[in-house]
Amino acid sequence: MMQLKDRKIVLGICGGIAAYKCPELCRLLLKQGADVHVTMTASACRLVSRETLEALTGHPIATDVFTAPGQIGHIELCAHADLLVIAPASANTIAKLAAGMADNMLTAAALASPCRLVLAPAMNSRMYRHPATQDNLALLQKRGALIIPPAEGDLACGESGVGRMREPHEIVAYICALLNRTGLPFAENTLLPRPEAPRGLPEQKLLPKASGAGLRVVITAGPTEEPIDPVRVITNRSSGKMGFALAAAARERGAEVTLIAGPVNQPTPPGVRRINVKTAQNMLDTVKEQLGHADIVIGCAAVSDYRLAYVYDQKLSKEQQGDHLTLTLIKNEDIISMVGHSSPRPFTVGFAAETTDCEQHAKEKLERKNLDLIVLNDVSQSGIGFNSDDNAVRVFDRDGEAAAFGKAPKIVIAAQLADLIFEMYKKQHAKA
Ligand SMILES: Cc1cc2nc3c(=O)[nH]c(=O)nc-3n(C[C@H](O)[C@H](O)[C@H](O)COP(=O)(O)O)c2cc1C
Repeated sequence: MMQLKDRKIVLGICGGIAAYKCPELCRLLLKQGADVHVTMTASACRLVSRETLEALTGHPIATDVFTAPGQIGHIELCAHADLLVIAPASANTIAKLAAGMADNMLTAAALASPCRLVLAPAMNSRMYRHPATQDNLALLQKRGALIIPPAEGDLACGESGVGRMREPHEIVAYICALLNRTGLPFAENTLLPRPEAPRGLPEQKLLPKASGAGLRVVITAGPTEEPIDPVRVITNRSSGKMGFALAAAARERGAEVTLIAGPVNQPTPPGVRRINVKTAQNMLDTVKEQLGHADIVIGCAAVSDYRLAYVYDQKLSKEQQGDHLTLTLIKNEDIISMVGHSSPRPFTVGFAAETTDCEQHAKEKLERKNLDLIVLNDVSQSGIGFNSDDNAVRVFDRDGEAAAFGKAPKIVIAAQLADLIFEMYKKQHAKA
């Protein structure tokens, strides 16, 4: 489904190194059906090719108010736009916007713009954490701008910290969620986990409500692989996207996250400790090792229920096996049920991917596995669940349905789930 059909998005590009990601950002916006118009600063033109962006979007790009196409380009540019997105937003342009300056096409168009402003800041972490930048962002937020918080990780300057522009697919998910009102992937108007305040500088104002700060979260994700012989395995259809998105969301909320991942092709979210495993037994052993260090365990992996009773050490051949091959499988221990029955027991969250009698099966699993929450995925619905970028879930606790999150990108669902899990964990511990 094209989520941005008939939408006009103006993309403002500043002179940050992350400008090199803008052609990909444009491509993903166009793929969602958006009409994309670009404006870029003179510095941005030195970091990314204007011609590439003109070719991609099919529209000429103006950087200067006097050479803009049309009568009064800076007034026209955003006049009928749904959103003005500035990505990357440089410290310099953020400061100019806060001051109400209009000295180039981007800042003049932003000042004349009647539509919502979204900023995706990207810069060195000291520039980002500087009180000048934080004050400017606070002022822009107060005026209604939305900020896509930069991520933590390696920065172009060779340092590491907060300040990386979000990946193009995350920005597009944010825009889709905003325009389709499905809930935002990043908590609105909050920024990333609290970085250490640099010596001599005051506490940062815009740092996030770190709802997961001080919590140790263990998440399993992806499929497991049960070997049959040296070249064949039994596995499940799981891309790992949901578990990885949850790990990123929990980390963004300040939690210490350990991600136990089956064989998947997903990048490790910044700041997350990842342990790779293959079989269900490897995953079980690793979860057991981590149990003593977990406040919350989330079982998102699609673990193989069975493994081979006998693993062949040579490749099975059709010639030797003939027309029929019988494999004997034995049951694996249920990992999340082991966690739910452990002592001391962490707050335990399971996932149930069901195709029939979904609610009943999910509630039974909640009881049987002694979980605090179960997240139900109806995988019979097309376009959500396994291998899809989208999901829709219902969440049950012992009192019944605790929440339902409608179809949205997995990073949006992950953000909603992380907020819910931390809130429920805190409620449970406040009672205790
Ligand atoms: C290679 C290079 C990378 C830069 N990366 C950033 C950046 O990521 N964020 C930022 O705020 N400034 C960055 N700067 C500095 C800006 O380009 C500079 O402040 C410029 O005045 C920004 O102009 P603009 O806001 O009009 O685009 C970079 C400069 C260079 C030369």
